[in-house]
Amino acid sequence: ADTGSERIHHSKFINVAHRGASGYAPENTIAAFDKAVEMKADYFELDVQRSKDGQLVLIHDTTVDRTTNGTGAVKDLTLKELKSLDAGSWFDEKYAGEKIPTLGETLDRYRGKIKILIELKSPSLYPGIEQQVAEELAKRNLDKRGDKVIVQSFDHESVKRFHQIMPSVPVGVLASYGSYRDTGITDKHLRSFAQYADFVNPNKDLVDRDLVKRVHRHGMKILPYTVRDESAANALFDAGVDGLITDFPELAYTHPHK
Ligand code: G3P
Ligand code: CA
Repeated sequence: ADTGSERIHHSKFINVAHRGASGYAPENTIAAFDKAVEMKADYFELDVQRSKDGQLVLIHDTTVDRTTNGTGAVKDLTLKELKSLDAGSWFDEKYAGEKIPTLGETLDRYRGKIKILIELKSPSLYPGIEQQVAEELAKRNLDKRGDKVIVQSFDHESVKRFHQIMPSVPVGVLASYGSYRDTGITDKHLRSFAQYADFVNPNKDLVDRDLVKRVHRHGMKILPYTVRDESAANALFDAGVDGLITDFPELAYTHPHK
């Protein structure tokens, strides 16, 4: 008997607010993270990149164009330049003045209030970012077991590097639809992920009951992204997933065992 999968079966359903409660407030801002806390999500997710002068900042795209009033690559702008941008108005005028947060100020603000799912976004653009994130966690005692933070990436080499630097922090592999559409996520993939990862977090369109069972059999949990409506949430509940990564945290509360 696999006691691991039994433990997974009985554990609490995990509600992750994607880029914060990004259905309600501008993604990757304090407004969206506060909303996730207010809605009692278990985690919020965020995307980490790095400024020209080496500061870790939270933004999804590799340019500032879509989610701020500025233009240009994140890596070509200094923290001061990034901080001068409005990261809220694009979403709604009432969020005018929201700033791009740093990872450090975000960990300080939310540590002990809500758990955090940290995505290393395009880490190949930012050599050494794994070490830098690990240092930010260590400084705040977030490097202890207990799932206070999880680190994930689509770049599985980067996830492995982070895991080697800080094995006490659980890590997840993200799986995009495009990368796995043809083969699905096979047992061979899962065996390789299971060597270092605790979570397999795929695009929801890759997920069915069979995949969930196989992820559990390999001793990992599965948190699909990105759920935006009730019918998607219900299909994933039926498939037996361990939680959801969603723009609308209330969707996870319709889970039958929540
Ligand atoms: O946490 C999963 C999800 O954030 C991955 O995709 O594009 O929203 O960063 P993306
Ligand atoms: Ca993300």
